[in-house]
Amino acid sequence: MIALGSDHGGYELKKEIINYLEENNIAYKDFGCDSMESVDYPVYARRVANAIVDGECDKGILICGTGIGISIAANKVKGIRAALCHDVFSAEATRLHNDTNILAMGGRVVGPGLAIKIVDTFINTEFSNDERHIRRINQIEE
Ligand code: RB5
Repeated sequence: MIALGSDHGGYELKKEIINYLEENNIAYKDFGCDSMESVDYPVYARRVANAIVDGECDKGILICGTGIGISIAANKVKGIRAALCHDVFSAEATRLHNDTNILAMGGRVVGPGLAIKIVDTFINTEFSNDERHIRRINQIEE
């Protein structure tokens, strides 16, 4: 189950991602927001982060205008590793190396075509399980 969250700056891109998930029969839960009305991104970062650490969802996708604020907020929650990615290489590398559980993007930064390729890569790339990457992730958690 993929947890989705955005503020108003990410709302339109989130709708494009929802279309992609539905077309591909990928289960998701949308934690808001629900319109272009101005809202505060930490609220949605926290909802999605909590859904992951509580085990309700496996991974999350967070979108604000830049992806920056919402990724900073999500990374404050223990157990969350959120990566801001605006290219496919980073999306693949962060799953392989960092076992990230949240993908953050900026709705004012990337178009829907690239964003969907990034989402597809993030969702379908498994963690490498490499010993050196596990060691580094454990150091982050400590
Ligand atoms: C909202 O205008 C904007 O600040 C927010 O979406 C995000 O870009 C913050 O990092």
